[in-house]
Amino acid sequence: MKTTSTINQLRKKRESLTDPLGLVPTMGYLHDGHLSLVRQAKMECESVVVSIFVNPTQFSATEDLSSYPRDLDRDLELLKQEGVDLVWIPTVEEMYPPNFQTWVTVERLTSFLEGRSRPEHFRGVTTVVAKLFNAVLPQRAYFGQKDAQQSIVVRQMVRDLNMPIEIVVCPTVREPDGLAMSSRNSYLNHEERKAAVVLYRALAQAAHHFAEGERDSERIRQAMLEILTNEPLAEIDYVSIADLETLDEIQGEIDKALLSMAVKIGPTRLIDNVILGNR
Ligand code: PAJ
Repeated sequence: MKTTSTINQLRKKRESLTDPLGLVPTMGYLHDGHLSLVRQAKMECESVVVSIFVNPTQFSATEDLSSYPRDLDRDLELLKQEGVDLVWIPTVEEMYPPNFQTWVTVERLTSFLEGRSRPEHFRGVTTVVAKLFNAVLPQRAYFGQKDAQQSIVVRQMVRDLNMPIEIVVCPTVREPDGLAMSSRNSYLNHEERKAAVVLYRALAQAAHHFAEGERDSERIRQAMLEILTNEPLAEIDYVSIADLETLDEIQGEIDKALLSMAVKIGPTRLIDNVILGNR
């Protein structure tokens, strides 16, 4: 497995890799969710590149950039075991040299959900993902359903800017109790970790009601809120039932929908989602 930090070296090494090439962008501190994307890419592509970069521009001043968990040695060992061809670990200076001033912004889709709670977050995501795409030139790029809005926003960017890249979205990988795997789960203490399963419990309950024939968005929303408000450690940021493509909130009858939520468990903000109905 090759590793590199500079864009020049990356471009040279990329030349010797066979197409189709799959890229898995990450911020490191890898878990089985990340590795499931790598495995999917391995199955579908001739070569696989993983990037590890804790992207400062997608964190706001009050967020966890400096404390974001990192363990590069462990990450590289895991990626080697998966048979990854090349790992790109750019530095902040390489990605954002002095006088950097060009941004990629997806407008409407980022005004909802995560974008509303975290202004500028998606501008950082789409800018860095566009830069990763431009440097690696993959035919496919792999993202997780865990960050549903991120995948939708990246797809929109690819479509709007005519990038010749297929965006593949892989299912959310969960802990045995249902908690979606996340690098940020490492912030949770024992009590918080137990309470964190409430996100999945609320989503699973909503999915259960839907499977039983419930279609009223307000009743499904209430069912989720009831479970969340019964958990003393949980503080709700948002609970949403939205159209899968436009992300507009659905009022009344649900045909298919993205159910998503952001909930603080103690100081840690967690997100999760499920899709109702056939896509
Ligand atoms: P990061 O949080 O490291 O996630 C990297 C990729 O792994 C994302 O596509 C994310 O959706 C996926 N992922 C995370 N947890 C997952 C889980 N439990 N199951 C399935 N997939 C999961 O998302 C980012 O980094 C950054 O925003 C990035 C796209 C790298 C841009 O900086």
